[in-house]
Amino acid sequence: MGKESYESLDYDVIVIGAGGAGLRAAVEVSENTGLKVAVITKSLLGKAHTVMAEGGAAASFGNVEAQDGWETHFYDTMRGGHFINNYRMAEIHAKESPDRVLELENWGAVFDRTPEGRIMQRAFGAHSFRRLCHIGDRTGLELIRTMQYKAIHTGIEVYQEVTMTKLLVQDGRVAGAFGYLRSDGRFVLFRARAVILATGGWGKIFKVTSNSWESTGDGAALAFRAGVDLMDMEMVQFHPTGMVWPPGVRGLLVTEGVRGEGGLLRNAEGERFMKTYDPERMELSSRDVVARSIFKEVQAGRGSPHGGAWLDISHKGPDYVKAKLPGMYEQFRTLADLDITKEPFEVAPTCHYTMGGVRVDAETCATSIPGLFAAGEVACGLHGANRLGGNSLSDLLVFGRRAGLGAREYLSQSVDWAQVDESELDAEMDRVLEPFHRPGGVNPYHVHEELQAIMTEHASIMRSGDVLQAGLEKLLALKEMVPKMSIDGSRVYNPGWHAVFDVENMLLLCEGIVKSALERKESRGAHWRTDYPDELPQWQEINFVESFDGENIRLRTEPVKAMPENLTKLFSYGKAPGLVAREGKES
Ligand code: FUM
Repeated sequence: MGKESYESLDYDVIVIGAGGAGLRAAVEVSENTGLKVAVITKSLLGKAHTVMAEGGAAASFGNVEAQDGWETHFYDTMRGGHFINNYRMAEIHAKESPDRVLELENWGAVFDRTPEGRIMQRAFGAHSFRRLCHIGDRTGLELIRTMQYKAIHTGIEVYQEVTMTKLLVQDGRVAGAFGYLRSDGRFVLFRARAVILATGGWGKIFKVTSNSWESTGDGAALAFRAGVDLMDMEMVQFHPTGMVWPPGVRGLLVTEGVRGEGGLLRNAEGERFMKTYDPERMELSSRDVVARSIFKEVQAGRGSPHGGAWLDISHKGPDYVKAKLPGMYEQFRTLADLDITKEPFEVAPTCHYTMGGVRVDAETCATSIPGLFAAGEVACGLHGANRLGGNSLSDLLVFGRRAGLGAREYLSQSVDWAQVDESELDAEMDRVLEPFHRPGGVNPYHVHEELQAIMTEHASIMRSGDVLQAGLEKLLALKEMVPKMSIDGSRVYNPGWHAVFDVENMLLLCEGIVKSALERKESRGAHWRTDYPDELPQWQEINFVESFDGENIRLRTEPVKAMPENLTKLFSYGKAPGLVAREGKES
């Protein structure tokens, strides 16, 4: 192929991803630092899965229930994650999230208030206390709006609709990233002294998902190919309540805030079935448990007409519902022609979040490649086997900031721009243009559809060894299609071209998911194996770590980091420290 040209841009730091984690990281590297910072997104600024964290950000202020504190938030997060979390990330997160929420308020986010004027907090699944700071049911949106404004005013530059196809590593450290502008198909090199990945998760590997088209795991796949390890890939979260009807909106999120505000789940027989599965916490059990319970009710023939459960908040009355859940009221009115203040509605599990991802250092979010950092959903460790609702917004605030600090600290060691290898860029441009030169090849959208079908049939909410193995074989066969994908048309705004790389990224990650799901021979959190239905103590000691040599994914186990004594002690009563304290006061 002929030699292509590219535009070259130099930045101290590039942040890939413009959702909550990316924006928070960008603020930290840009504000009053003198560093030249670019935020790059394949989509539009702020159009990110962050907005789908509707119900709130978890932070243990104790504004509504005074016994809450970081120890209890830490306890709940570790317990919710079934103890394969990186304890240090959980500790940092629990300690720092209140400050990050207050900071957001100083930047202009207007949280709902208690009658005394404090930040209002609502109940969410598996949080021991009312802990979620919220703005109605549009918390993620307000968080993004606030940080967008803040970040822009620190002087960052924003590149929208840019597809990154390769991370550049030179002399053992990060050198930048390479890709193309979707608007006209021109190639672009971002040379950078440090790179922060904040590209989110890969929910689009399933057809029924709360995620939109952006969530294809690009950052994780780029890092994996560049030599960074991925961890806990088997852990994929199904949010219990996605919309079910009409079919065109299946999977769209119904916030956990509905249950947090008192919503009740019933099966087709009108029974509050959560009493069978978690009689103590009922609708406010953890997401893995509630999602599995709905799934089991449907399997047992007690599902709602379109294969879900009934969720009902109408007993709270129209004023309450409209005040607390205005987004849900509007969503059902406009999309389903249904008034949730008057009648119950159908919900079913929807793929919502990926707990696995890029392995990072808890303090700095550094990956194993010097100069490369990762934060938010793309990174791994905080949530273990199951994330608690509300812990994603606080995660991206806490670790977005820490990734920014990590990059600053790294750059303070006078890191210069690495040289890029021209022959590597030539080869990359040829590779990226190849799909145009394979007339009559395979349509990337068909490959994506097939991938979603395989993951749904073989590696979804319910798993077993033989079904996973068959799924792996199908995925490996589908992988053969990658070099055959072809597209028509020009380089100008060609979504099919983009889909080629999305699909390639997702296929790589799906293989990683299925491989570690096969090896985890137990049930833990979101990972439910019918052939190994019990949670087994020996697997609590283990994280699955994967590396990629360009051809094959290699899987190994690593011991879960052991908690120090002061933290282990928090589990000695068999219940959350704040609850123990409350009971002590009451008796
Ligand atoms: O249900 C929700 O509002 C989602 C929140 C989250 O994923 O943290």
